[in-house]
Amino acid sequence: MDKSEEIKEQQLYIEKIYKINKDKNLKYNILTMGCQLNENDSEKLCGMLEKMGYTQTNNVKEADIAIFNTCCVRENAEDKLFGKLGELKKIKEEKGIIIAIGGCMMQEKHITDKIKESYPFVDILFGTHTLHKFPEDLYKVLEDKKKLEDIIDIDGEIYEGIPIKRDSNIKASVTIMNGCNNFCSYCIVPYVRGRERSRQPKSIINEIKELASQGYKEITLLGQNVNSYLKVEREKNIFFEEYKGINSFATLLKAINQIDGIERIRFISPHPKDFTDDVIEAIAECDKICKLVHLPLQAGNTRVLKEMNRKYTKEQYLNLVEKMKNKIPNLTLSTDIIVGFPGETDLEFEDTLDVVKKVNFEQVYMFIYSRRIGTPGDRMENQISEEQKHKRFNKLKDLVEKQIEKNNKKYINTIQKVLVEGESKNNKELLTGRTDSNKVVIFKGDKNLIGKMINLKIISEHMWYLKGEI
Ligand code: SAH
Ligand code: SF4
Ligand code: F3S
Repeated sequence: MDKSEEIKEQQLYIEKIYKINKDKNLKYNILTMGCQLNENDSEKLCGMLEKMGYTQTNNVKEADIAIFNTCCVRENAEDKLFGKLGELKKIKEEKGIIIAIGGCMMQEKHITDKIKESYPFVDILFGTHTLHKFPEDLYKVLEDKKKLEDIIDIDGEIYEGIPIKRDSNIKASVTIMNGCNNFCSYCIVPYVRGRERSRQPKSIINEIKELASQGYKEITLLGQNVNSYLKVEREKNIFFEEYKGINSFATLLKAINQIDGIERIRFISPHPKDFTDDVIEAIAECDKICKLVHLPLQAGNTRVLKEMNRKYTKEQYLNLVEKMKNKIPNLTLSTDIIVGFPGETDLEFEDTLDVVKKVNFEQVYMFIYSRRIGTPGDRMENQISEEQKHKRFNKLKDLVEKQIEKNNKKYINTIQKVLVEGESKNNKELLTGRTDSNKVVIFKGDKNLIGKMINLKIISEHMWYLKGEI
């Protein structure tokens, strides 16, 4: 069966479940962990569930079906899942709720084995490659009242046409590629998300045009490695249909920049090794592309980077940043950093601090190295003690916070273009929006500004947000 037929078949399951659920006022609760790719997958699960006649509830005790979309990139994720399962067990005993666990962690056999052994009340286990089959899996569970496991380990496919219900009506995420071929030695993602594969240019453009016509203003392009969009296809001569001249990440950016109605374009995450000149030029040239670029560093020391299999040196990273800063006016950068990779010495960690000082990031996402079963990093013998890792983490955090404070001060008295996203969560009297550099700005204003791009004067700064006035 080809993929569009598979999706049509799932549509039939959606209709069957809709008939079963009709007039029952059934509810679903969904909890999502992990990155924006997972959030985008959850939006698809929500889309399918709503078409099956379920409505969303934030209170799991009210739900008829509870879904947990998992992440396994770091250890604490596992504690969260098993804690949650304990909670769901009680609800299951009180009422016959259906429990479905999906996402990246389900691609790890030691985890699914543990669930089947210790949490046998879970109804559906589904993986990252079978998300589109959720209607069929649910139908079988509803009909047969049996447990179901739908997890496969494949390179992966791209499915178009899965229903979607988005969290916002102003900003939308669009996945442009799936999987990862980089195998950084600490990372589990390539094992749970399969090999790199890109969506067809035409499908992406049509989706974004549709979003523009629905009034969406900001698009975030998603992928584990967005700037290698269509790279595997080009290198291995895998068929793709060139559309509007799109045959690379740079040409994709340029084409999206032409779409009327879209005012901002962001993307995560690019890999420094694939940051080619044409991408830098596209960012500089295209007025809608935000000038905040997320450029994951991971570590500042060249030996550690080599052990991590990152394929760039400290100098290459710094040179790339220099080149970008020279070519892209008003560029700001954010990054991801791991402290305490096996074998990292105090002296080598200083290189990470050095790069942070030199680049002056707008935002740094800091992580303590976490051993992932099945990765080369986990098999390395020179693991760092937890105490040492925490010491380094705190040192990095101090530096980053000082820099953010200093950077925030630069915003005061400047005029910033802000996309207004809605009411502030903490104070309904105020509105909230974001700058081009993704800083949150809180300000007083009329609700009809929501969804608009406006100019604000920044009047004060507070670590995680700025205050502005019209
Ligand atoms: N593909 C993206 C993001 C992958 S996961 C990229 O390459 O940037 C997001 C971040 O989690 C990574 O950038 C890395 O900083 C962190 N991470 C991944 N594996 C980790 C591990 N085993 N321990 C700690 N942090 C990790
Ligand atoms: Fe993980 Fe590296 Fe792939 Fe990012 S590029 S998903 S860090 S293996
Ligand atoms: Fe986590 Fe999977 Fe994303 S492991 S970070 S949810 S790709």
